[in-house]
This record gives sequence, C-alpha cells and structure tokens, in this order.
Amino acid sequence: MINPEEFLKFLKERRSIRTYLDKMISDEEVEMILEAGRWAPSASNRQPWEFLIIKNKEILKAISKNSFYGIHIKTAPLAIAIVGKVKENPNYYIQDTSLVSMNMMLMAWSLGIGTCWTGALKRDIVKEMLGLEKNDYLLTILPMGYIKGEIPKPTLRKNLDQITREVKVS
Ligand SMILES: Cc1cc2nc3c(=O)[nH]c(=O)nc-3n(C[C@H](O)[C@H](O)[C@H](O)COP(=O)(O)O)c2cc1C
Repeated sequence: MINPEEFLKFLKERRSIRTYLDKMISDEEVEMILEAGRWAPSASNRQPWEFLIIKNKEILKAISKNSFYGIHIKTAPLAIAIVGKVKENPNYYIQDTSLVSMNMMLMAWSLGIGTCWTGALKRDIVKEMLGLEKNDYLLTILPMGYIKGEIPKPTLRKNLDQITREVKVS
C-alpha cells in the first residue's frame, strides 16, 4: 500500500502540462500508462473503452488545429485518445472512460511525464480523422511528454468547507 500522506502530496503536485520535450516516451512507459488505464474500475466491469496511441506528427498537428484550446497537442511526442464504446455501456461510458483518464494521468505523473486532459475539440472532425465509428465517444485527447521547463504553480482549489456538508436527520 502507498503511504496516504505521500499519496495526497502526489495528487496535489500533479499539474496539467502543456509544454513537452521533443523526445519520444519509451515503450515501457507508454505501456505502464496504458496498463493504469486498463485497470480503471467500470460499471459492471464492462470496460467500454479503446485507447488510441497517436505518434504521427501530422495527425497531432491536425488534431491541434481542430481544437479550441489544444495548441499544446502539436508539440507533444505522443497522445492517447480515450474512446468510449457507447454500445458497450450506454449508461456509464463517460464515467468509465473518465476514470481511465485519471488513472493514466496519475501514472504518467509518477513517471515524470506531463499530460493535459484536452476536451475542447471539434469532436466530429477529430473522430473522423481517427477513424472512429459514429457511435464512439471521444472523451479526450491526452497529449503527453517529458516536462519542458518549470512545472506550473499549483492551481487553486475551493476550500473543503465550501464544498462539503454533513447530511443530518432533520
Ligand atoms: C473535462 C476537462 C476538460 C479540459 N479541457 C482542457 C482543454 O481543452 N485544454 C486545456 O489546455 N486544458 C484542459 N483541461 C485541463 C484543466 O484546465 C486543468 O485540469 C485545470 O485548470 C486544473 O489544473 P491542474 O490540472 O494543473 O490541476 C481540461 C480538464 C478537464 C477535467
């Protein structure tokens, strides 16, 4: 088991990273990230997902171009597209694939690899580029790479007392 305080520190230290070194991530590290995704929980354990590995610079550039806030995608050596197979669990594919994405981001961070959950995409265009079926749901493109430059300062979080309340019997 992981030491809980160390784990919380690790969670707090993770940042979205949008600048990457021009160096390919090793196959072993990519596999670790994919494995972390594979072990995410899913409703009824249906695992309604597919992971696409994108290394081709032209495709990365084209995805970047078809995003609203994803200029960083074109500078990443690699990206993973997380796809929800809607037909395999129409009720929970978003939840399931979101859990995959968090597992992948945390594994990447533990390896010194920065990622950024990128959602502001022209989804239909990007889906077509990736050869996805009409029914597939493109959750996110996760560009990733070794971190270039300084790790950004921590982003703000609401205080616990702003977002927590105990439910009492009235
Ligand atoms: C659902 C979702 C969509 C996001 N979409 C984008 C995006 O399109 N482009 C981007 O640069 N960051 C995107 N982000 C990253 C957030 O901006 C980032 O997680 C947030 O500002 C907190 O910063 P941190 O991850 O460093 O803690 C997205 C994050 C989530 C969870």
